[in-house]
Amino acid sequence: MDHFTYRDGKLYCEGVAIDDLARRIGTPAYVYSKATFIDHYDKLARAFAPLDPTICYSIKSCGNLHICRLLVERGAGMDVVSGGELYRAQKAGAVMRKVVYAGVGKTDDEIRAALSAKIGFFNIESEAEFENISSIARQMNAKAHGALRVNPDVADPKTHKKTTTGNKESKFGVDIERARRFFDRYGKDPHLALDAIHLHIGSPIYSAEPYVRAITKALALIDDLKAGGIKVSTLDIGGGFAADYVTGASPLAEQYANDIVPLLLPFKQAGGSVILEPGRTISANAGVLVTRVQYLKQGPTKKFVIVDTGMHHLIRPTLYDAFHFIWPTSVAPKHVPRARDKSPEVEGLEKCDVVGPICESGDFLAKDWPLPPVARGDLLCVFTAGAYGMVMSSNYNAMPRPPEVLVDGDKATVIRRRETYDDLLGPEMQVQSV
Ligand code: LLP
Repeated sequence: MDHFTYRDGKLYCEGVAIDDLARRIGTPAYVYSKATFIDHYDKLARAFAPLDPTICYSIKSCGNLHICRLLVERGAGMDVVSGGELYRAQKAGAVMRKVVYAGVGKTDDEIRAALSAKIGFFNIESEAEFENISSIARQMNAKAHGALRVNPDVADPKTHKKTTTGNKESKFGVDIERARRFFDRYGKDPHLALDAIHLHIGSPIYSAEPYVRAITKALALIDDLKAGGIKVSTLDIGGGFAADYVTGASPLAEQYANDIVPLLLPFKQAGGSVILEPGRTISANAGVLVTRVQYLKQGPTKKFVIVDTGMHHLIRPTLYDAFHFIWPTSVAPKHVPRARDKSPEVEGLEKCDVVGPICESGDFLAKDWPLPPVARGDLLCVFTAGAYGMVMSSNYNAMPRPPEVLVDGDKATVIRRRETYDDLLGPEMQVQSV
């Protein structure tokens, strides 16, 4: 559910008509709905409330400072994976003990920054990393908490191979057997208290079942460790909760919670704490990418709709063959979409490839996609682009990034201005001998 809806054939984000907005700010542009962010966050918080979890919003999915701030105001902690994301979390005013820091390659500088900030947990990926964090903590006379990332060898077959993380081939975490040895070896470290387990099995995970399998394995490990005198007091079950790229195709927060909450309740009631790291389920449907049709081109076998955005601003179709529903922002009544579906059942559509201006054949947003009639100058909306959209954008082909706009009711605010050509050249103007 989100706040992008058609009224009288015109697409609105909350109370703002997208056509009017595009006239004011130009295209392409990312447009976000504040009410949708809040609604998704609140639904997740309500569904998991019996566990009273710390909800660490995954900054990597959509990290604009103003969006982080609005989630911090809602009570969210943050899941970060770099010094840059930690900096963002700090600037957003996040409570540092509600920050978890994941990633296989944390540098010494990043570790020092996170120790100074007194974050909640380092998610530990390897023995070498544990020893390094512990040694830096000792030098700084600091004490930190670590959550061992355990790889439960669980995957959702529907998850794209590039975003599956919980299987044996993954670079992330350690397997269960090694986890036992890990706790035996490092469980009593004076500078890095290893008192938590972290799971993240992939993204997106389309049902509760893989979580149930992974959590069951983690709880068994926690029991085993307890028998050996090691106490694990926090379980971080990661992110990966799906978002509706296709209307109604993903579980709701309470459907995940119905299976996960009862499983974790005994752990909670015995004094344990639970962490969630949702990204996409909060941000994906809270944002769209608005683009203008530049040209129509009929090839020998295909019709192309050439737009002013592409893989440089939204790389998911190119990288993962991801589906994004695309539709004009202004349509005849018979073309108002009833749902965002892979095969919209509306008459009078024509199949075309929606492609961008980048000099690569891989630059497309949709292939063989049925669209209502469109003309040069029309606006198209690429839906469900809030997650892994702007954050994965680039300046390839020296294209400035689009602005980000946050809509709140009938107010729209530019929360990141459109980049300029000078922004592109700025760092290149600072030449120095080294
Ligand atoms: N926690 C950890 C440790 C993660 O690695 C991720 C995502 C998350 C939480 C948040 O996952 P989410 O709830 O957003 O599914 N670029 C890909 C997705 C990569 C996900 C990376 N890790 C895409 O566009 O589908």
